[in-house]
Amino acid sequence: MKGSNRKYLFHFCSCLSAALLLTCLGAAVQPAIAQAPQPITPPMEQKIDAMINKLTLKQKINLLGGGEGMATQSEPSIGLPALRMSDGPVGVRSWGPSTAYAAGIGLAASWDTALAKKVGVGLGEDARARGVSVLLGPAVDIYRLPLNGRNFEYFGEDPYLASQIAVGYIDGLQSQGVSATIKHFAANNSEYDRGEVNSVVDERTLREIYLPTFEAAVKQAHVGAVMDSYNLVNGEHSTQNKFLNIQVLRKDWGFRGIVMSDWGGAHDAIAVANGGLDLEMPSGKYMNAATLIPVVQDGQVSVATIDEKVRHILQTAMSFGFFDGDQTNLSIPRFNQQGNQITLDAAEEGPVLLKNAGHLLPLNRRAVHSIAVLGPDAYPPQPSGGGSANIDGFAPVSFMTGLSDSLYPGIKIYWNAGIKTPEDIFSGTSWCTDRSCKTKGIVRTEYLQATGAKLASVTDAEVSSFDASGDDISSGFKRVEWVGYYLPKTSGAYRVVAAANPGEHFKLLVNDRQVLEVPGQTNLRGPKAIPVKLVAGKPVKIQLVYWPSTTEKIAGLGVIAENQLLDPDAIKLAKMADVAVVSVGFSPRTEGEGRDRSYKLPFGQQKLIRAIAAANPHTIVVLTAGGSIATQDWLSHVPAFLQTWYGGQDAGIALTKILFGDVNPSGKLPMSWEKKLTDNPTYKNYYEKPGTKDVKYAEGIFLGYRYYDKSSVKPLFPFGFGLSYTRFTFSNLTVSPKIGSPAGPITVSFDVKNVGARAGADVAQLYVGNPSATVPRPVKELKGFSRVSLAPGESRHITLPLNQRSLAYWDTVVHNWKVDPGKFIVYVGDSSENVPLQQSFTVQ
Ligand code: BGC
Repeated sequence: MKGSNRKYLFHFCSCLSAALLLTCLGAAVQPAIAQAPQPITPPMEQKIDAMINKLTLKQKINLLGGGEGMATQSEPSIGLPALRMSDGPVGVRSWGPSTAYAAGIGLAASWDTALAKKVGVGLGEDARARGVSVLLGPAVDIYRLPLNGRNFEYFGEDPYLASQIAVGYIDGLQSQGVSATIKHFAANNSEYDRGEVNSVVDERTLREIYLPTFEAAVKQAHVGAVMDSYNLVNGEHSTQNKFLNIQVLRKDWGFRGIVMSDWGGAHDAIAVANGGLDLEMPSGKYMNAATLIPVVQDGQVSVATIDEKVRHILQTAMSFGFFDGDQTNLSIPRFNQQGNQITLDAAEEGPVLLKNAGHLLPLNRRAVHSIAVLGPDAYPPQPSGGGSANIDGFAPVSFMTGLSDSLYPGIKIYWNAGIKTPEDIFSGTSWCTDRSCKTKGIVRTEYLQATGAKLASVTDAEVSSFDASGDDISSGFKRVEWVGYYLPKTSGAYRVVAAANPGEHFKLLVNDRQVLEVPGQTNLRGPKAIPVKLVAGKPVKIQLVYWPSTTEKIAGLGVIAENQLLDPDAIKLAKMADVAVVSVGFSPRTEGEGRDRSYKLPFGQQKLIRAIAAANPHTIVVLTAGGSIATQDWLSHVPAFLQTWYGGQDAGIALTKILFGDVNPSGKLPMSWEKKLTDNPTYKNYYEKPGTKDVKYAEGIFLGYRYYDKSSVKPLFPFGFGLSYTRFTFSNLTVSPKIGSPAGPITVSFDVKNVGARAGADVAQLYVGNPSATVPRPVKELKGFSRVSLAPGESRHITLPLNQRSLAYWDTVVHNWKVDPGKFIVYVGDSSENVPLQQSFTVQ
């Protein structure tokens, strides 16, 4: 139904009651049909030209800044509605509760493009049910180091895998008539100082590693929008980076949709206007009429440039049919049952079984009578990481609830968090204002920024504002000091625990002696725990000096006896139960947007694993994290280890099915897992070079397995790796033709067989190497894959095509993709290290 009729009917309906309105809408007003974006045809171009000609300069510029309520501006004179947006990428989170799907990294770990498409469809339906035209996802920045707080949203280290998952996701989402927004363009690979960090990436590395996922989104999935990142790329903020926004996106890839800024990512009106940004979000702080009209009038920004931006917005709106129908589709339930089935599928396919000594898993339902579910991530649920991607979903199921409500009656589930969190310690510490301990509390004194003058002191009951928005420290303060006394009840080992916002400077003093200083340039979040010996009845003076760098007051201070850190009941339960599941990892408070995270598990968790493993030989470690973590201290002590990422609202149900073998784990790592952090090739170049804002991507194209393959340093778990409860073999590789042309196609085929006793899925991975290349190339690179589900004894013949791009590298002389004639090797297997089939062919 076209706009005018629809509006008339809407007015007619709007006078009715809500119930009648629904009936009325059902009967008459049709939401826009769910259709994939249509290519822009010449008649559409003419319509758009006519619209642009109709608008005044002011009207056009008004469209270049976001409007109210996370939307674009409407322009009634041309029938353009405001396009409502919502954050993604793992749920439609901005307009009330919504389904929480598994995190991006878990979706990538499924290596299932059909699942990615289903998730996209689910998100599209959720969006349509909420009137959302533009979803802010998928998020696809490449995984460099596990510390990046947003890795959980992204699709791992490999551009080919990430591209395939992204294309599936976007195809599904956009098939529902909702524009995807691929983000964050580009090289936004850490959260630390994300607004100012300058990613220094050479041309070939950008084209081969950091841009292909965006390229596939544009060229293969016809994504409607691209979000420019906060950081700088090679010295220029992305929002004004002509190379990225104009040369690469528009000229090389032919992108016709909207380039929007990340929220507050624009910095200069003329630079963003001329630098290829179309839409400044969340509002036109720089791209507004008052600022831009004068610079258009004096020729610094051309009218043609403004028209182009409007054209991009109108093209996306027209291609998606946003002019023609109501984006809200009330016939789709907001609580989407289908979405729930999809989130369960994703939660089941993502987890990667990394260790299963002695075949502890799957658990035998008849032999296991009790399970101790322990650890801070067992309950409450952790469906997603933190920040703008954080979403709880409908009735998210924790690991503990999933197991206790499981389909296995007769199995007792014991639960204990097992460990005191930093927040527990901060809020559980009792302070005295002086040595006599007559008055309770800890004295806070604030000092003025400008003069250093002391302001009035107050007494706080505790210092527990860690990670909470504060109210009483304005940016005008220079530093805050807490001084208090702690009176130990028993003699022995204690820990003084202190924390502040990452990047902020703080110092800790015990009995006037400095025991810790965290300088302002430190990058990691997470509390620090200093061991001290205390004597019963003898008060100890503790002082935290803190320099807040933002208006947020994020500091914490507490003391705990070493023997109180772990809950003794957890150990008792571990001893009582047949099996112990230790659920460790991060949460939205410790892993998420805006900050990087630690490599080690948060405070005390390694200790918990060791203690539980010592109490129960059948200990299964279940991890919630967006990537790899330090394992050296505990992995050899436990028989089983499962990485679940953030599994969305049904993670608890999926875990139960995996542990008991109703679901055979099939996730494969979308990134390499280093033995220790310093082995990671980006380690020395992850943070800004001191005194600069530069992060030089010195590893170049040799990231992840591309590095380990050529190095004597080997990963703990290779890219593509994941165990199953069954086994697979690969055979009968044929590559044809054996002498090919640079344009391809080359066809690779082989058989995969399930030689175990259970049904299961494996991911056949096809890598290609080019040892005769005239430039240094990785030993091999992923160029194809196929997820195959096989019954016991079943085998499948797989055929995967290679094209010109599969063989090419980016040539920095001709600035284009190039295939060197010579020798190529095909590798087939199920991880970057397990490639039993190999064959070479020649390109002439
Ligand atoms: C994030 C984006 C997000 C936007 C809107 C930004 O801080 O980087 O990913 O879409 O906020 O919430």
